[in-house]
Amino acid sequence: SILIKDIYRNTDKYAGQTVTIEGWIRTLRASKAFGFIEVNDGSFLKNIQIVFEEGLENFVEISKLSISTSIRVEGKLEVTPNAKQPFEIKATNIVVEGSSDNDYPLQKKRHSFEFLREIAHLRPRSNTFSAVFRIRSLTAFAIHKFFQEKGFVYTHTPVITASDAEGAGEMFRLTTLDAKNPPVDEHGNVDFTKDFFGKEAHLTVSGQLQGEAYALAFRNIYTFGPTFRAENSNTARHASEFWMIEPEMAFADLNDNMEMAEEMLKYIINYVLENAPEEMEFFNSFVDKGLLDRLNNVVASDFGRVTYTEAIELLKKSGENFEYPVEWGSDLQTEHERYLTEKVFKKPLFVTDYPKDIKAFYMKLNEDGKTVAAMDLLVPGIGEIIGGSQREDKLDLLEERMDATGLDKEEYWWYLELRKYGSTRHAGYGLGFERAIMYLTGMTNIRDVISFPRTPKSAEF
Ligand code: 4AD
Ligand code: MG
Repeated sequence: SILIKDIYRNTDKYAGQTVTIEGWIRTLRASKAFGFIEVNDGSFLKNIQIVFEEGLENFVEISKLSISTSIRVEGKLEVTPNAKQPFEIKATNIVVEGSSDNDYPLQKKRHSFEFLREIAHLRPRSNTFSAVFRIRSLTAFAIHKFFQEKGFVYTHTPVITASDAEGAGEMFRLTTLDAKNPPVDEHGNVDFTKDFFGKEAHLTVSGQLQGEAYALAFRNIYTFGPTFRAENSNTARHASEFWMIEPEMAFADLNDNMEMAEEMLKYIINYVLENAPEEMEFFNSFVDKGLLDRLNNVVASDFGRVTYTEAIELLKKSGENFEYPVEWGSDLQTEHERYLTEKVFKKPLFVTDYPKDIKAFYMKLNEDGKTVAAMDLLVPGIGEIIGGSQREDKLDLLEERMDATGLDKEEYWWYLELRKYGSTRHAGYGLGFERAIMYLTGMTNIRDVISFPRTPKSAEF
């Protein structure tokens, strides 16, 4: 059999030929003498129309099939230039592979995304989710292509780790404890801290620290893997499990870092526009009107740049009534980020040089002694999609920061050694993969761009 996408792309080759396709019924209407079936085989967003007539030996059976029945169809491909669909298959043989019960939840009507979340195992069969997850797959490929073509080494960093890469304590702890019979200390208390075969271990929040070790061997590396955050944030942009891409570059500073991030984002936008035009049209029509114009503008212009200190000034004189106060030294909230990128700059915006006290311990201290060489990339509609920095490459300054933030230097002994044996300026960033997919598709909830989302309120499936 052949794929429906192949027929759309090479119609001339198959016109007038006998073809066999396999797929699932999306719609079916039949009269006494003939009927139409729209079939989707997953290879393409679009369906193919099947025409069947009473001459077919199982005509009556086929007329009664329900939505989502899987079938195999053999017939002649007829080009229909004057009809709504560009071609149809005149069926000579239809075989039912698997019937579908009449209570199939995805009937032909628009379902809310909330409802579809409850049937995460069936939603990839709907047009929207078919488009989302094809874009997700293509974007993953585009990211690999981008970095591989630049010679970056794809590094697999551990999922189980002892270090807290962000120093923020938002880790899921792993345990080998027998809940019914836990080991206890001399006071009879369960010791939860050393419960991974006698050691403490967590699911990773970021592969960055190990990534730095590899960048100081390979020069340019990137990671692409799952990360976990035990933050209890019930927002449309936070998940407990999400994927992150973390390039790390030796002999690179904050400016090189921003240039790489901008080039990468433009590359993946161009990639999906070129390689998934039907899906992108679909989002533009049904999910986010104006998406294509916006993305085309983004690839054609330079991203904005502003320092944190300048950003605070802009926010203070904005006249906006923010829920959270704007104060030098406090972190930018989503409402602030969105004001800057949606109302002031109206394009992706790098905010740089944040106060050291609101950023992670590993960021390089600036000359002023108050700010660090950090950068966040904010985009309209979402807020932060990238967080990155130049790393502190001086051993004494790094140790000072670790002491100040209460981190145990012993635990990070190997990370500190990287500053002893050939330290150099280096920088990197983390792109939240799901946030990138939201940005590319116009989808507004992170739960709708992960196949089976894990958030503080849901871990079903
Ligand atoms: O800003 P973050 O916390 O930075 C780091 O983890 C660094 N170690 C990255 C680096 O420099 N190598 O996270 C990076 C990005 C954020 O900008 C955001 O897009 C995404 O990861 N992110 C989340 N996405 C979904 N759900 C969450 N809970 C997220 N937390 C962060
Ligand atoms: Mg961040």
